[in-house]
Amino acid sequence: MVFGLFKKKEPVTVTVKGTGETFKCEPGQLLMKAAFAADVKWPHSCKVGSCGSCRATIVEGEGAYPSSPCDPTALLTKEEMDDGMVIACQWVPKTDITVDVEIGKEGDKRGMI
Ligand code: FES
Repeated sequence: MVFGLFKKKEPVTVTVKGTGETFKCEPGQLLMKAAFAADVKWPHSCKVGSCGSCRATIVEGEGAYPSSPCDPTALLTKEEMDDGMVIACQWVPKTDITVDVEIGKEGDKRGMI
């Protein structure tokens, strides 16, 4: 018998490394969208997975890219992905996470090539 099928999905907690800021992310909610809902000034530009300015490093926890057209390999190197870097506007946390990101850099173009 698989009890996990009936487990109620709960929001996960996102902790920002450095500031210690925390916010909730609903099941299936994109990381950056949850940050915006909590008034966290997450770095961003396009919001659709094409610029890379929302990139962040997951220090602890897990997640995935849902049925998104975003191809993270177009924005991140294999080494960056191996180090836990994600495209936050297209990535969904599945567990509580700790994330390393520079808050307050709206319009940051770090990912622009
Ligand atoms: S904001 Fe442009 S890739 Fe996320």
